[in-house]
Amino acid sequence: MKSFSVQLRFGMLAVSVLALVAGCGGDDGSDGSPDPDVLVECPPDSDAQQSRGASVIANQCVTCHSTAGGSQGGLDFNNATTVKANAEKMMSEVESGAMPPGATVEKSSVDDLRVYLSCL
Ligand code: HEC
Repeated sequence: MKSFSVQLRFGMLAVSVLALVAGCGGDDGSDGSPDPDVLVECPPDSDAQQSRGASVIANQCVTCHSTAGGSQGGLDFNNATTVKANAEKMMSEVESGAMPPGATVEKSSVDDLRVYLSCL
């Protein structure tokens, strides 16, 4: 299936593709109570939120964490395997405010990111 092979090859992008293909749930996540402790159980019907979480990485992390950005800290977040393997660490770095350096991630985007990383 097309969306499946895209998922294998493009990791983060796949979530948005799946969200478009599967695209059912409109209003999810309104009352998700995020656990302050890093990752949570993947919430059902959270495709849209997962997609937004993937965008947080694309917009606020890959500038430094990509081959083009020099893979800072030895991490390339365009690599889906790397993201999955580092999901917990990524989340705690963002929660502590250590990442991204010199910038902040909006509270709602932190929640989106948590859902995305929890559902990998
Ligand atoms: C401006 C460049 C820059 C951006 C943007 C950035 N990082 Fe980093 N990141 C670094 C550098 C440099 C290091 C290695 C040095 C360090 O750990 O501080 C690093 C290290 C890390 C580490 C490894 C920490 C450890 O202790 O092993 C993680 C995880 C991480 N970043 C996650 C993220 C996430 C998630 C984002 C996006 C929300 C992000 N980073 C955005 C520059 C960046």
